[in-house]
Amino acid sequence: MAQRGFSVTGVDFIREALDFARKRAQGFGVNVDFVQCDVTEFESGKKFNLLLDCGCLHSFGDRKRIKYKEKILNLMSDRSEYVLLHFGKRDKADLGLGPRPKSRDEIEEFFLPELELVDFIPSAGGAQFYQYRFIHSHGDAGGKTGIERSAVSAAAI
Ligand SMILES: C[S@@+](CC[C@H](N)C(=O)[O-])C[C@H]1O[C@@H](n2cnc3c(N)ncnc32)[C@H](O)[C@@H]1O
Repeated sequence: MAQRGFSVTGVDFIREALDFARKRAQGFGVNVDFVQCDVTEFESGKKFNLLLDCGCLHSFGDRKRIKYKEKILNLMSDRSEYVLLHFGKRDKADLGLGPRPKSRDEIEEFFLPELELVDFIPSAGGAQFYQYRFIHSHGDAGGKTGIERSAVSAAAI
């Protein structure tokens, strides 16, 4: 993202993860502002145009997930986007260890009414790794809106 001209802030609470990311950014010759903290405690004077979660949300239980939603809403401004890469539901043979995946319906419902789902890509980056793209609609996405509506408006362009 930094290579594409975004001014990027990277957040993780594990120092080694940030060290790894820092080295990669250096390798690409880009500047990224890295912050070591729990993402639900992250503070910034800025609002972000785009928030990207790659594999973080699905490690949270119910209470933490609510705190996380409050935080990301606070970091977004009008029409900011939130992109989520999240494991989908696994099959019954799965032992349930590791991430706590949610179904597409659960994810979509969870972010209503403030965030409206405008794009969904199943199997993004491997089987069962789903990509969601939301837009901050400030509570206007009160009903189940989702992709069907955005597909209509995209087709009208
Ligand atoms: C599956 S890894 C993905 C790492 C990286 N985002 C990537 O795409 O390669 C999930 C990361 O989320 C971080 N993480 C989990 N819970 C977190 C929290 N509450 N606050 C900050 N980082 C967290 C972990 O330390 C881990 O590095």
